[in-house]
Amino acid sequence: MEAVRRNLSTISHSTKTFLNVDRLQLHRRLGEILTQPLQKSLFLVSGSDAIEAAIDMARKVTGGVEVLGLHMGLHGSTSFITRSLSFGWNRSKHGLAAQGTSSLLAPYPYRCPVACSPEQCSCAKGNGHYQCLKTSFELAQSNFGGKPAAVILEPVLSAGGVIVPPPGYVKALRDLAHELGMLLIMDESQTGLAKTGRMWGHQHEAVVPDIMTVSKHFGAGLPISAVCTTAEIADQAAANGYVATRSHACDPITCAAGVASIDIIEQEGLVARAAAIGQRMAKHLARMAEANDLIGEFRGRGVLWGVELVLNRDSRAPANGSADLAVQACQESGLIVQARGSQNRKNVIRLVPPMVSTDEQIDEGMAILSDVLARVQRPEAC
Ligand SMILES: Cc1ncc(COP(=O)(O)O)c(C=O)c1O
Repeated sequence: MEAVRRNLSTISHSTKTFLNVDRLQLHRRLGEILTQPLQKSLFLVSGSDAIEAAIDMARKVTGGVEVLGLHMGLHGSTSFITRSLSFGWNRSKHGLAAQGTSSLLAPYPYRCPVACSPEQCSCAKGNGHYQCLKTSFELAQSNFGGKPAAVILEPVLSAGGVIVPPPGYVKALRDLAHELGMLLIMDESQTGLAKTGRMWGHQHEAVVPDIMTVSKHFGAGLPISAVCTTAEIADQAAANGYVATRSHACDPITCAAGVASIDIIEQEGLVARAAAIGQRMAKHLARMAEANDLIGEFRGRGVLWGVELVLNRDSRAPANGSADLAVQACQESGLIVQARGSQNRKNVIRLVPPMVSTDEQIDEGMAILSDVLARVQRPEAC
């Protein structure tokens, strides 16, 4: 608030043509917390903007056009590119999709798209045989109309149902993408800046993307996003004539909010706090799952968790109706949650408590959820 107030009474807007101090401070501050070799950033206004710009950058640098996204991923709502890559939202809603966009099967251990059991899943074993990836890339390559440019994914697929890729998957995906000359773009809108208990979601798998986007809580409520990359990629993009901007892309007021939010995340130890909240939530959820067979699986990292509701633990049929009722009942009891999932499933209760929540607040929220899930009906089963 202080940073924003200061800028309101000095300078809030400035065209990108001129550098301003807050913008330079944000470039430096963000550079300090990026995973090396990521170090360069440009600023935009929304998460969707940043994804569009990241894809343009990959296309400029590789000279390719084809972009692949996971079939349960979500990357924004701008026409054309981001909504075309938001397969988790069902892109048929939007009419024609953008050329050069297609999907890869998302890794979803609970409902494996190539029917591997967790024991068979080679991603988890790391033995180099990744059936879902191999199948997806074969199909994708046969659909390519031009040279490939990039693969995009969220480190945890949030809106698609809080899907955590199995260990080894992201590295295998990166290796395959690089073999084809594609850059790896990570959308850290939902997972960046501490939310998963690490500063960046990609740090869990130690796979550094070639290009990364940051948005949502970056501006602590004010609209600002970033595209981050290596010096090498940034230089190449610039040499190839790449440009991405908006009138309000580098406003001192939003940049100051970005600096303040990074400062607060560091000063208040929110990375560690998000991790601790995650451990606390996992314990609560384990107890809930033991007592309630409506819960098929729970999964997540840091403050981002999904509770998948099923009609029957053997069939794993999605309990969409129960999820819907649970969301309403939670809301009536003072707990805001959402039902998420993709295709015909909306059966995952997504929980994203603030990183500044106290233990008591987490316990209270989990008690509400536990009580609601114990009461909620299975309308499909009636
Ligand atoms: C992972 C992810 N990427 C991108 C976006 C789009 O961000 P925005 O709504 O700021 O354009 C969202 C929005 O929910 C998101 O969840």
